[in-house]
Amino acid sequence: MIMTQDISIICPDLIARIFALCEGEDDSIAIMATVSAELFYAIDGYNWVGFYRVVAPDLLKIGPYQGGHGCLVIPFDRGVCGAAARQQAIQLVDDVDRFEGHIACSSSTKSELVIPCFNQVGELLGVLDIDSDQPHFFAWQDADHLDQMLRQLFQNTAS
Ligand code: SME
Repeated sequence: MIMTQDISIICPDLIARIFALCEGEDDSIAIMATVSAELFYAIDGYNWVGFYRVVAPDLLKIGPYQGGHGCLVIPFDRGVCGAAARQQAIQLVDDVDRFEGHIACSSSTKSELVIPCFNQVGELLGVLDIDSDQPHFFAWQDADHLDQMLRQLFQNTAS
């Protein structure tokens, strides 16, 4: 069954709450921790929510997250997160088994949404990775809402 979601309908106050919690914050890790917790506990069907941070050229490392353990290091040439970082473009994967090179931190993950995040001068900070145990869970509306939210939240961060 197709289960795509629109978070603005399911949880209309979610993004407003995240903005309120993060108001005036310019520390990217504090923002990442808050976003991870708020999204994970608000949306049934989000089974892992977290950030991978750019820590060296072409290298992502695990940042704040909620859910089971995530793999610690992802090079830019691996996985859905690596593709999002390399291309600096949103990756919406309806079926992870059909994404070549998908990194299966959890065998229960069926679909993913990964959104790149940028600091105040447009440099890549990292990516937001959201995984679901349901296939086809994510809608492009989700991606667009979250992308706009992340751009605003990180607009005052330096690193
Ligand atoms: N799904 C990611 C790996 C990270 S875990 O799912 C937390 C990927 O293929 O990039």
